[in-house]
Amino acid sequence: MQLAKTLAALAALSLIGACANQSKQASVDPSLTPKFGKPISEQNLVLWNIDVRTPDGLNMPPGSGTIAQGKAIYEAKCQSCHGADAKGGPVFGTMVGGIGSMDKNPRVLTPGSMYPYAPILFDYVRRAMPMNEPQSLTNDETYAVTGYLYNLNGLMDANTVVNSKTLTELKMPNRGNFYRDDRPDTNAKRCMSDCQPISVSQK
Ligand code: HEC
Repeated sequence: MQLAKTLAALAALSLIGACANQSKQASVDPSLTPKFGKPISEQNLVLWNIDVRTPDGLNMPPGSGTIAQGKAIYEAKCQSCHGADAKGGPVFGTMVGGIGSMDKNPRVLTPGSMYPYAPILFDYVRRAMPMNEPQSLTNDETYAVTGYLYNLNGLMDANTVVNSKTLTELKMPNRGNFYRDDRPDTNAKRCMSDCQPISVSQK
């Protein structure tokens, strides 16, 4: 089934490719140009446009939850894969602990030990978890379960109201250990107009 879908998608893509090439020729009858899809409505776009700016929480939605609510949601919807108290389950390792282990061997990567900004966890859970039913949690539930995971990591008190403000204000322990990637290829500037053909040595 999956393979059939993939093949259908590939076929559709190559069809688009073929039509795009064709439409470059001046002689093509406009009535024969492809009519795939339609512009997305603002209403539908809102459902997909959910990224937030994690350092300052820009675009985090309204809503809030408590740690206790988060615990109940975790046990119902996350524990089967992530284990009791988020200490690791059948498909993923621990999501707690490891704080201060970044320069140790082994280091333990968890939302508590790794993420520089707390809203990253909210954003990730909101778009991707639970893995078997992504985007099924409400914003309030997502705030609550995010807070619960930070509580398990010792970073949020049990009585914290979890919302965009408290998450954005949470000082993450690993924040100071990131530095700007200084490898030369990460600073490459892309030419956007009047570009030279790429020489063989650059390829
Ligand atoms: C059906 C299994 C399943 C369920 C249920 C599930 N997860 Fe996950 N989760 C995964 C898998 C698998 C990964 C690893 C995904 C990857 O690496 O691409 C993951 C990754 C994560 C991560 C990333 C951790 C990190 O540091 O990289 C977080 C956070 C997380 N899940 C939270 C949750 C929360 C919260 C819930 C419940 C609302 C939940 N998950 C439910 C399977 C699941």
